[in-house]
Order: sequence, then structure tokens, then C-alpha cells
Amino acid sequence: MAAAKLRSFLFLITFHFMLLLQVQFSCAQNNVRAGYWAAGSEFPVSSINSTLFTHLFCAFADLNSQTYQVTVSSANQAQFSNFTKTVQQKNPCVRTLLSIGGGISDPSAFASMASQPSSRKSFIDSSIRIARSYGFHGLDLDWEYPSTQTQMTNLGLLLNEWRAAVINESTVTNNSRLLLTAAVFRNSDYYTLNYPIQAVKNGLDWINVMAYDFYGPGWSNVTGPPAALYNPGTQVSGDYGITTWIQSGIPANKIVFGFPFYGYAWRLVNANNNGFFAPTSGAALTPDGSLGYGQILSYISSNNATKVYNSTVVSNYCYSGTTWIGYDDVQSITAKVYYAKGKALLGYFAWHVGADSGWTLSQAAYKTWGS
Ligand SMILES: *[C@@H]1O[C@H](CO)[C@@H](O)[C@H](O)[C@H]1NC(C)=O
Ligand SMILES: *[C@@H]1O[C@H](CO)[C@@H](O)[C@H](O)[C@H]1NC(C)=O
Ligand SMILES: *[C@@H]1O[C@H](CO)[C@@H](O)[C@H](O)[C@H]1NC(C)=O
Ligand SMILES: *[C@@H]1O[C@H](CO)[C@@H](O)[C@H](O)[C@H]1NC(C)=O
Ligand SMILES: *[C@@H]1O[C@H](CO)[C@@H](O)[C@H](O)[C@H]1NC(C)=O
Ligand SMILES: *[C@@H]1O[C@H](CO)[C@@H](O)[C@H](O)[C@H]1NC(C)=O
Ligand SMILES: *[C@@H]1O[C@H](CO)[C@@H](O)[C@H](O)[C@H]1NC(C)=O
Repeated sequence: MAAAKLRSFLFLITFHFMLLLQVQFSCAQNNVRAGYWAAGSEFPVSSINSTLFTHLFCAFADLNSQTYQVTVSSANQAQFSNFTKTVQQKNPCVRTLLSIGGGISDPSAFASMASQPSSRKSFIDSSIRIARSYGFHGLDLDWEYPSTQTQMTNLGLLLNEWRAAVINESTVTNNSRLLLTAAVFRNSDYYTLNYPIQAVKNGLDWINVMAYDFYGPGWSNVTGPPAALYNPGTQVSGDYGITTWIQSGIPANKIVFGFPFYGYAWRLVNANNNGFFAPTSGAALTPDGSLGYGQILSYISSNNATKVYNSTVVSNYCYSGTTWIGYDDVQSITAKVYYAKGKALLGYFAWHVGADSGWTLSQAAYKTWGS
């Protein structure tokens, strides 16, 4: 009896010790398998399967164009302030970052904030305050986009000062330093502008390269692979973007490759001309043609659409009658994760987690990266 008790006691001790080891070791992540959660998606934070991510970005906090402080709209405060606690229930190791700005925010507010020392300080101090008070592990700048070389220079000043401030703050408070990241373009319209490479390299923990939105009905009157990995004869591809970033001097292990959990639907001019670069008359199905992966799967099954995977370009598409949708499915996501791993990048991210369907794409990506 006593021996049995001792055995089970020892077993419990060992078990707890192993659990402790497991928690401590598995939390030390050397890669980034990330997703953005978009407040506008109305996908409940509590439904995120956070076991499939090392990092989750909470999007978006705003930049006040008068005070240059980072703010969270009152509609978002409850979800944002509980974001970290909520996603750590399923995965205590997941790290969270508060993302500031985004595609619909005003880029000129960022430009004027970055242009003066005092407004940069307002931004920096308020960003740190809000990250700490809400319990985030880091901050992500989504200024889309700096549009002149002067703005790029000012972005460099901002990144250097931001880095110095988070280092100081962690020293003074004895907390782990906040992570700093930024979402950056891979968009041929902008590639004549140079990001401030030294400041990006020294100031940020990594960059999220948005390798998507290459083709969409809003700016392309032909069908196209919205997030092509390769695009022979053009510079409009994820691979071109990653290669450019590496050539510019950013180490591969500071680059995170972004892919979309959504696609774009066009209206074909001729139902029989249904490959890439086929003439279209505009968006289909939604005002701007954008559809989440889950919506695309529903469209395919209810319309018996034909599915195609083009492994040269690394893009999926489907069509039914005159409706044509370019998107990423399991094949293209898997190929992109292999690519990111093969190039020794830090990892990948998806925009956005609420658009997945039954965690199909998130699971494919996570498993493909492996351990
Ligand atoms: C979350 O992902 C894990 C790992 O793939 C899986 O085992 C689990 O079933 C998923 N949970 C839900 C609710 O989908
Ligand atoms: C956020 O967390 C606080 C404190 O735990 C709680 O009182 C509040 O109800 C939560 N809000 C939401 C929307 O879950
Ligand atoms: C360092 O951080 C402390 C506490 O956050 C702050 O009061 C101080 O102004 C900071 N100093 C600099 C030089 O940023
Ligand atoms: C700082 O934090 C570490 C662990 O987080 C602790 O070991 C150390 O004693 C703390 N130092 C001070 C000065 O509080
Ligand atoms: C489609 O766009 C291209 C490039 O902007 C333009 O040259 C062409 O005329 C357009 N075609 C139609 C049918 O609008
Ligand atoms: C679905 O499409 C396939 C060819 O793409 C066709 O063979 C099949 O009959 C169609 N099924 C229905 C229910 O329309
Ligand atoms: C894939 O797309 C490229 C670019 O449009 C095209 O040249 C190629 O023929 C396609 N491959 C297949 C197998 O359809």
C-alpha cells in the first residue's frame, strides 16, 4: 500500500515535472506560424484554434490623426483587451501582437506622425502603453503604405526610436521586451521605393511580406492568380518579392511569408476562355469580388464548379459558367509553406484566420512546416 502510494506520488511528481519541461521548452519558438484575426470579420476570438499558430495578430488598432496616439475604437475594446487571455486558453504558448493601421487606415496620418520627433514619441509611448495594458507580447505596424522616399526615411527614424523605446521599457520594468514587426508590401506598383533597410533590419524582429492582392477585379480587367508564388516573365509574384527583400539585405530569418485565406471572383467575358489572363467584365459575387476560403468552398459545391491547380504559378482557381475565382487552396498553401521553409525564412502568416473553413488551410500550413 505504502509502496503503491510512493510509486504514484513519484509518478505524479515526474509527470508534473515533464509537463513543466514541456511547457517551458515548447514555448521557445524559433519559427513563426502566424495568422491575423480581423475585428471586422466578426469571427469570435474564442473560436480561434490557437493550437495551430505560434503568433496571432489582433487587427487593427487605429492611429489618431490629431494626437498621433494609438487607440482602440470603443467597439473593439472588450475583444482586444481580452484577446491574449482568450487565445491562450487553448494554447498557453501563443504570442500575440497588436496590429496598428491596416489597408483602410489613412496613410497620410502615418506619414505626418513619422515626420516629427514629438509625434513619433506620442505614437511610440501610446503603443507601448496600450500593448502592456492589454497584455500583448508585441506591436505590428501596418502603414499601407509609405509613398515617398522621404516617408521611407521617416519610417526608418520611427523604427529606430521604437526599438530603443521597447528596449528601455523592458529594462526599466523588467518585463520581456515587446516584439516589433511590420507588414510590408510586395507590390510591383511600389517597388521603385526603397524601404529603410538598415532600420528595418535593426529595428524589427521580422517583416510580414504581404505576397497577395497581385490581381483582383478592382485593378485587373483579366483574371489572374491573386497570390502567385511564381509568375514567369513578370515581377508580380511572391518569389520575386522575397528574392528582392533578401537581395536588399534583410536576412531570410527576419522574413515571414504572407498568403491569403481569401480569393477574388471575376465575371468572364467568355465562359469558354477560363484560364489565367482571360478577359473579364469586372467583379463577380461580391462588390469587390473578394470571398473567404469558406465562401469559395460553398460556391464550388453548390455550383459544381470546376477546380484547377496550376503548380507552375502555385495558385488554385475554379469556374462555373462566367464566374471565375482565383484563390489559395490546400495545394497552393502547402507549396508556399515548403517554399518558405526551403528558403530558410522565419515562417509564414495568413490573412485572416476567420476566413478559413474548418481550419483546413491553417492545419495544412502548420503540419507542412513540421517541427
Ligand atoms: C484544432 O487543431 C488541432 C490540431 O490540428 C486539432 O487536433 C483540433 O481538432 C482542432 N480543433 C478544432 C475545434 O477544430
Ligand atoms: C473581458 O475580460 C474582463 C475581465 O476578465 C471581463 O469582465 C469582460 O466581461 C470580458 N469581456 C468580454 C467581451 O469578454
Ligand atoms: C524609459 O522608460 C521609462 C518607463 O517606461 C520612461 O519613463 C522613460 O521616459 C524612458 N526613457 C527613454 C529615454 O525613453
Ligand atoms: C527580473 O525578472 C527576472 C525574471 O523574470 C527575475 O529573476 C529578476 O529577479 C528580476 N529582477 C529585478 C531587478 O526585479
Ligand atoms: C484592360 O486593361 C489594360 C491595361 O490597363 C488596357 O490596356 C486595356 O485596354 C483594358 N481592356 C479593357 C477591355 O478595358
Ligand atoms: C458536375 O460537373 C461535372 C464536370 O465538371 C459533370 O460531369 C457532372 O455531371 C456535374 N454534376 C452536376 C450535378 O451537375
Ligand atoms: C499555368 O499557368 C501558366 C501561366 O498562365 C501557363 O503558362 C501554364 O500553361 C499553366 N499550366 C497549366 C498546366 O495549365
